[in-house]
Amino acid sequence: MILVAGGTGRLGTLVVARLAARGLDVRVITRDPARAHHLGDDATEVVEGDVRDRASIESAMRGITTVVSAVQGFAGPGRVTPASVDRDGNANLVESAAAAGADVVLLSVVGSSADSPMELFRAKYAAEEHLRASSARWTIVRATAFVELWADIMTKPIVFGRGDNPINFVSVQDVAAVVERAVIDVRLRGMTLEIGGPENITFNELAATLQHLRGRPTKIRHVPRALLRAMSPLNRQPRAALAMDTIDMTFDAIAARDAYADLPMTDIASALDRAGEHQYRG
Ligand SMILES: NC(=O)c1ccc[n+]([C@@H]2O[C@H](COP(=O)([O-])OP(=O)(O)OC[C@H]3O[C@@H](n4cnc5c(N)ncnc54)[C@H](OP(=O)(O)O)[C@@H]3O)[C@@H](O)[C@H]2O)c1
Repeated sequence: MILVAGGTGRLGTLVVARLAARGLDVRVITRDPARAHHLGDDATEVVEGDVRDRASIESAMRGITTVVSAVQGFAGPGRVTPASVDRDGNANLVESAAAAGADVVLLSVVGSSADSPMELFRAKYAAEEHLRASSARWTIVRATAFVELWADIMTKPIVFGRGDNPINFVSVQDVAAVVERAVIDVRLRGMTLEIGGPENITFNELAATLQHLRGRPTKIRHVPRALLRAMSPLNRQPRAALAMDTIDMTFDAIAARDAYADLPMTDIASALDRAGEHQYRG
């Protein structure tokens, strides 16, 4: 049985479906079982638990061979934070998995490091280090920004900052395929896989593409960096937006694909098309 933490989320839902399609039993852990309804029969079992509370995840480990962590605490319900979910919650999952003798597949981010300006990237790096130091057998999957998430965020043509910094975007569908591979192929244990998409594009270019697909060629508006700076002390979102507007967010995805070269690499236009963006056209 595979345990998927974050199985109710954007990526986790796809991972659960892929594992179920292979005939594997999947247990999903969620803070609210109502959020797992859309999984239907893909989830063999749904259990309630919060990765911030180790006791609440201990019983979910029964009979588990591999744990997938697709949780994130950057945004979302329940007063989550990167420190409490991505760093400490993942540490709880790793400790519980190690005690149960289960392997761990951990979702992280391309660019994670101890000194990143992004709180989330530091928390992910801490989780990676905790996992590498544990007795569990592990695979880390680092991904770039999911283009489908950003299409959902950018329902209006508003760009945070100047929007002229190139960023690597990947299709969440391609990430799900790599995570599935990481679960089933134990030769990938002890490896950190990185996945991105074929293009580095700016938020201005993404906004223009979305406006074109949606048939609404209106002018792109910007939230100025000065406003983001002013909001930063109070809120992690503008801090992250400033970082994404200024630090190197590019990635050479081709060079990273050696360990899974047979898996799909979807371009941005195809990913948005598959996500149904063309349906917005009036
Ligand atoms: N989105 C991106 O651009 C991106 C890029 C690189 C890497 N990643 C990584 O990929 C993974 C999936 O991202 P996503 O965008 O698909 O996530 P998402 O849709 O925002 O889903 C987040 C998931 O985290 C779970 N979660 C949050 N706090 C929790 C807690 N305290 N206890 C248990 N579960 C908790 C939620 O479960 P419940 O609400 O059901 O409890 C939900 O299933 C994450 O690890 C993320 O950091 C994402």
